[in-house]
Amino acid sequence: MDVLIHLFVGLHIIGIASLLGGFLTQMKAMGQGTARFVPAMLHGAFTMLVTGVILVGLNQADDQPVNNVKIGIKLALLIVILGLVYVKRDDEKVEKGLFGLVGALTVADIFIAVLWT
Ligand code: HEM
Repeated sequence: MDVLIHLFVGLHIIGIASLLGGFLTQMKAMGQGTARFVPAMLHGAFTMLVTGVILVGLNQADDQPVNNVKIGIKLALLIVILGLVYVKRDDEKVEKGLFGLVGALTVADIFIAVLWT
């Protein structure tokens, strides 16, 4: 079971790499107001949700404690991210403030994940 959990943590990290990486590639465009939510961001956010839910299930099945408050906050932020990226996925340009908000929420989620132990 440990190997399976670590495997999904690996997939979870590939998801955040895709979400944050997609955002970083658009930072220059964001400054000019021409950034867009690239497919890597949508797929990364979706991967986070799916692997996160599977990780909760695997940890519970293995009788490992799960920090529900931390997971709840990560989930709430991710739902806002996923909602915004999904709704605006076909927009050729996303305004600077909204695009920056998605980046800020993504970074906040990363620090909640690593600092809240
Ligand atoms: C963008 C949002 C997210 C980020 C950046 C993130 C990040 C991380 C990171 C870095 C880890 C490995 C370190 C650790 O064990 O805490 C992790 C583990 C985990 N994440 Fe996430 N996560 C996110 C969203 C979610 C969501 C939405 C869920 C559940 C619905 C979730 C559930 C879990 C679980 C259960 C673990 C394993 C904890 C353990 O085995 O101790 N994550 N996450």
